[in-house]
Amino acid sequence: MNTDDQGKRDGFTSRFGIIAAAAGSAIGLGNIWRFPYVAGENGGGAFLLVYLSFVLVLGIPVMLSEFVIGRKAKKNAFGAIRSIAPGTWWPVIGIMGIVAAFVILAFYSTIAGWTLHYVYLSLINGFKGHDSESLGIIFNEFMVSGAMPLFWQMVFLVLTAVIILSGVRKGIEKYSKILMPFLLLLLLGLCVRSLTLPGAMEGISFLFKPDFSKINPAVILSALGQAAFSLSIGMGALITYASYFPKETNLSNTAFEVSIADVIIAILAGVAIFPAVFALGMEPDGGVGLIFMVLPNVFQQMPGGYFFALAFFVLLSIAAVTSSISIMEVVVAFLVEEFQLKRRQATFITLVAAAFVGVFCTLSWGALEGVTIGGMNIFDSLDYAASSILLPLGGLLIVLFVGWYMTNTQVEQELSNAGQVKVRLFKVFNFIIRFIAPIAIAIIFLNGIGFIR
Ligand code: PFF
Repeated sequence: MNTDDQGKRDGFTSRFGIIAAAAGSAIGLGNIWRFPYVAGENGGGAFLLVYLSFVLVLGIPVMLSEFVIGRKAKKNAFGAIRSIAPGTWWPVIGIMGIVAAFVILAFYSTIAGWTLHYVYLSLINGFKGHDSESLGIIFNEFMVSGAMPLFWQMVFLVLTAVIILSGVRKGIEKYSKILMPFLLLLLLGLCVRSLTLPGAMEGISFLFKPDFSKINPAVILSALGQAAFSLSIGMGALITYASYFPKETNLSNTAFEVSIADVIIAILAGVAIFPAVFALGMEPDGGVGLIFMVLPNVFQQMPGGYFFALAFFVLLSIAAVTSSISIMEVVVAFLVEEFQLKRRQATFITLVAAAFVGVFCTLSWGALEGVTIGGMNIFDSLDYAASSILLPLGGLLIVLFVGWYMTNTQVEQELSNAGQVKVRLFKVFNFIIRFIAPIAIAIIFLNGIGFIR
């Protein structure tokens, strides 16, 4: 049970609310901050192509599998799998999800904190009169400064916890429903400005013209990781959300719509950013700070740039919150249901633990810069652990579970809402989750970490 100090299980109410909440989870910093910088580092067009194919062939089936588990069992990720497969080791998927949730919350809140700081900078008109060089300096000085990024990170984590506390329907659904459409409009506006900058076309060809010489096993694994991260799959966030779906929800349509919306936003973010990168004479592989250095330049060259900048960073912060609540909810639902904690206690514990890990992450750009794990700083290694290891492995286990442990009848029953809706392409879905996805993910993973060549 969840949100249930009164004993009733909370849930989403309207169809649009469900899409908005699931899309709210999927659409976030992963699309707008992470996609452009990772694509930029991995050669642009070819990365985009591989990432898109992974979303279609692997991502949507994993998402649908999570929906099936969650709505069937109506429990947190661990409890859901245990109730379908009692006495087996399968619930370990849920434990991996909890670990992934903390790892992601730690670095996600770092970047979300940066975004909040940029809301503040926009508000005080802090970009005005700066050229791209000095905007770069502003960003770099802020990122290593310690106290400020930590402050904003904590603000963000508390904000997430407050929304988590107000429960599923009142909190998550209400916020997602109103705000997501605005983000889309704003991104479109940004794209128009970026595309009309002199020299913009070079950015477009960087993003859309694949150069396959850039592709190697590590790039392929990072495209898989980006697809998983961006779709919120592989760690039970969508198992948890689907546990709040009503029995009428058409799971296949929802998975499809959410994934398409997610991809569209990522591409729009690319179109907003790369033309500007090239027009400004910057490098596309600028790393984690890419959007923070590029976009303030674009805003300055727009009529009404002050308001655009403000609205953009506000909406990006909100997109980050609607994603981070889905991450935190994985842990909170687990603690409430498996340890009979009150929602308030569970949220508090999760908040404190996430803040603890998060501090190391934020400081890894400054005071803890010298601390490395596997040749990466703490931030990069946590990001790598989540997107290149935990999420792909989680996704692999989830499809194996639905494909091989659950029976076809169970799965079809859930997909068809007990015979109420027609299930199209069941055979294709089944074939993908039984064979294609597990084999593909295993090969990409082993290849990407250098285990097989
Ligand atoms: N999909 C989110 C984003 O793109 O920002 C991040 C995320 C949310 C990852 C939930 C994983 C997750 F379970």
